[in-house]
Amino acid sequence: MAAMLLKDLVFEIDNPWSQFYDATRATPFITPEGLKQNLDVGTHWVGDRIKGFADSLNDVAHNQGQVVQVDGQKVAAYRNENGAVHAVSAICSHLGCVVAWNNAEKSWDCPCHGARFNCEGKVLHGPAVNDLEQIST
Ligand code: FES
Repeated sequence: MAAMLLKDLVFEIDNPWSQFYDATRATPFITPEGLKQNLDVGTHWVGDRIKGFADSLNDVAHNQGQVVQVDGQKVAAYRNENGAVHAVSAICSHLGCVVAWNNAEKSWDCPCHGARFNCEGKVLHGPAVNDLEQIST
């Protein structure tokens, strides 16, 4: 596509795709969809900090993950099938939303911008580039 567009630009041939791929095209900065997404992020950023969480790592079932409030800190705790607990900060390393357990994928997923971490807090998918902070239990 790039080669075709560049060739047409060089030879000044009209191409119906040229406006679509024009790097200088004007795009509205604020769109209804953008406003809705930012409202969703803000709702999660605030709401997920004040909602109630379990207060004991003992509440985490085998082969499950759960956000637990321990000493005022939100902990993303995963208990494996052998009963061992992997604890990491539940605060997303991207911009600080509270991650949620995805039982189908056995991952910690951030509801704000879609970052995903494995059950031990290692980054699986951005935009986060740093792992979740390890917490000793
Ligand atoms: S705050 Fe988690 S992906 Fe942005």
